[in-house]
This record gives sequence, C-alpha cells and structure tokens, in this order.
Amino acid sequence: MYVCVCLAVSETEVQAAIEAGATTREAVTLACKAGGDCGACHGMIRTMLEDHADDVSGPIVCCPPASAAADRLVPDNALVRTRAA
Ligand code: FES
Repeated sequence: MYVCVCLAVSETEVQAAIEAGATTREAVTLACKAGGDCGACHGMIRTMLEDHADDVSGPIVCCPPASAAADRLVPDNALVRTRAA
C-alpha cells in the first residue's frame, strides 16, 4: 500500500526509513521522498512515527525497583520506643 501516492512510496519504505532512525516527517522525506510533494500523506507519516515511538519506548515504570525500596526500610533493631510525656 502506498503511503505517499504522489511519489509512489510504500508503507514498507516509510517504515524502513523510520526504523533506520528518521524521527520527524522531514527526516522521512529526506530518507525516502515520502511527503515531498502535495503533503496529503503527512498525517499518515506522523501516525507511523508516533506508533513507532510508542513501540520502542518500553513499559512505563511506576515504582522503584524492589532493591531500592528495601534500602529504605529501617531494621528492627533500629527502632526506639519513647514514652509519651
Ligand atoms: S501523497 Fe505524499 S506528497 Fe502527496
């Protein structure tokens, strides 16, 4: 399937440009010419760039690693009881 009809650039060619390191529409155009004429395909190229960025960004980490959390625990013998005045 063509992403860019004007310049007859296929989805495979655009994907190859992105996987080779193109991170902007302009970089894709430089790499494979897609998007270099009327601009109707710019949205599709941006969508492919966003999909690739989502794929390579990896999982969202919300918590510190277990070893980091264990470092912050207070050992039992460090606890001190105080009497309320
Ligand atoms: S469809 Fe890509 S520049 Fe026209």
